[in-house]
Amino acid sequence: MPDRYAVFGNPITHSKSPRIQAEFARQTGQDLVYEAIEAPLAGFADAVMAFRAAGGRGCNVTVPFKEQAYALATWRSERAKAAGAVNTLSFADDEIRGDNTDGIGLVRDLTDNLGLDLAGKRILLLGAGGAARGVGLPVMECKPAELFIANRTADKARELAARFNCHGGGYDALPGHCFDLIVNATAASLAGDMPPLPNDIFAPGGLAYDMMYGRDTPFLAFARAHGAHCSDGLGMLVEQAAEAFFVWRGLRPDSAPVIKLLREA
Ligand code: ATR
Repeated sequence: MPDRYAVFGNPITHSKSPRIQAEFARQTGQDLVYEAIEAPLAGFADAVMAFRAAGGRGCNVTVPFKEQAYALATWRSERAKAAGAVNTLSFADDEIRGDNTDGIGLVRDLTDNLGLDLAGKRILLLGAGGAARGVGLPVMECKPAELFIANRTADKARELAARFNCHGGGYDALPGHCFDLIVNATAASLAGDMPPLPNDIFAPGGLAYDMMYGRDTPFLAFARAHGAHCSDGLGMLVEQAAEAFFVWRGLRPDSAPVIKLLREA
């Protein structure tokens, strides 16, 4: 019998995780199945516990359940604690282990796939919601010269920055500063919008990274128009999955061919 894994979210129909994990399993010769499960909005914990009782070995968790997954875990990794959210659960005999692979997924995509050494770089993180929270600790561990968190609601940015020992504020703090890397972790793209950024916000050779994937966002269009390099978040998606696979199976799959496969699809 193959080992069972799943991703829980709501909605979940468009999740690429089953495809990614199936590729990793094929690559590494692991006997496992991975399915997408839509948990009812008020029934996340019940759905996960039923999956575990039916023999599930672990699961990924996506929007809107990452904070509930954090609460459900009986053990949490440091990076999960820093994020206050869990995207990877592993079921041990008497334990539910909670981890967060989102931030390291971003860092691996930036460093391994895009060739950007974050040490000494000036980094701007846009947004202070769930997507931004996972990123702070892994990015700070790379020893950037500066991490500034900017958010529409400035207090949320300051609060988050205090957790990661960096600076934060509103978008009005940005004029006069420029950055080597700007990561868009806001939900603005969903509304076809982008945060208000000054035209000269990118340092020469700067990189714009949008955590969204599969579409050209207003943020990336702005970045391109102002001479920055651009990347969407597809690599981060695959890298966070690769780290989850490692957490469960102790093996590191090769993410590059999977990123290529999804790009071509
Ligand atoms: P997620 O889990 O995707 O991060 P979230 O926790 O609701 O979702 O956070 C959404 C983030 O996008 C927040 O930082 C939000 O800013 P506020 O904290 O001020 O609400 C930001 N955001 C959403 N729409 C935006 C827009 N049109 N312009 C700028 N920021 C926006």
